Amino acid sequence: MSEQLNIEKSAKDYENKSPQEILGLALGNFKNIGISFSGAEDVVLIDMAKKIGSDFRVFSLDTGRLHPETYQFIEEVKKTYNIQIEVFFANRDLTEQLVKEKGLFSFYQDGHKECCDARKVDPLKRALTTVDAWITGQRKDQSPGTRANVPVIQKDPTFGTGNLIKFNPLASWTSKQVWDYIRENNVPYNKLHEKGFVSIGCEPCTKPVLPGQHEREGRWWWEDATKKECGLHAGNVKK
Ligand code: ADX
Ligand code: SF4
Repeated sequence: MSEQLNIEKSAKDYENKSPQEILGLALGNFKNIGISFSGAEDVVLIDMAKKIGSDFRVFSLDTGRLHPETYQFIEEVKKTYNIQIEVFFANRDLTEQLVKEKGLFSFYQDGHKECCDARKVDPLKRALTTVDAWITGQRKDQSPGTRANVPVIQKDPTFGTGNLIKFNPLASWTSKQVWDYIRENNVPYNKLHEKGFVSIGCEPCTKPVLPGQHEREGRWWWEDATKKECGLHAGNVKK
């Protein structure tokens, strides 16, 4: 845990710095830090961190509902970068209970929160008890409804006991910048991106988007745009 880092000041100082500089600050200040890897374009964080050269961990949340392409991609990333990816599984008891009571597709009627809580938020909480800081691939342009104000560094507004630090090095990057980086650096990517998928989550809750559609329209498309956070980043949604 870093004693020196002043979070509010660093958030201002690093607001307009590059993702690599923000990652460098993160990795330089925290030994026990984890990249939260969704199996999609946030792979650029792993590529950048590997090039910086400091130690880092990577974890992924397996909801049990990911696409086959995403599972294959997670393995490909492990091999390409010669890293471990720690996979945290959905909460067994909560998931079994939900499926028993409401079946496998209750989110289409009841909203995604209940299912995400059991399958994503619970494993995230477990993952976060093992680190001092975490790094996400959140970007402002991913969701005008909820992410427009994502800072590059913050005290985690939702998880931990007040000292957990959350870094969002890609906050100010656009989708185009991410994809330019992927192409220029030969970064491997999830094959779903070749099939019209932009933002990728769970299989039943993700669909490809049409030209000109916003990427978030392919996620939980039956819900209001201002509520499209699954709980991983619940602090983005103003009460
Ligand atoms: S979500 O909250 O709507 O599902 P999104 O897909 O936009 O999130 O991804 C934003 C960031 O959240 C990712 O870059 C990653 O850091 C984290 N994240 C999302 N899903 C997962 C997952 N299954 N495993 C690990 N991290 C995830
Ligand atoms: Fe369940 Fe859909 Fe949330 Fe995945 S995204 S955990 S399937 S509600």
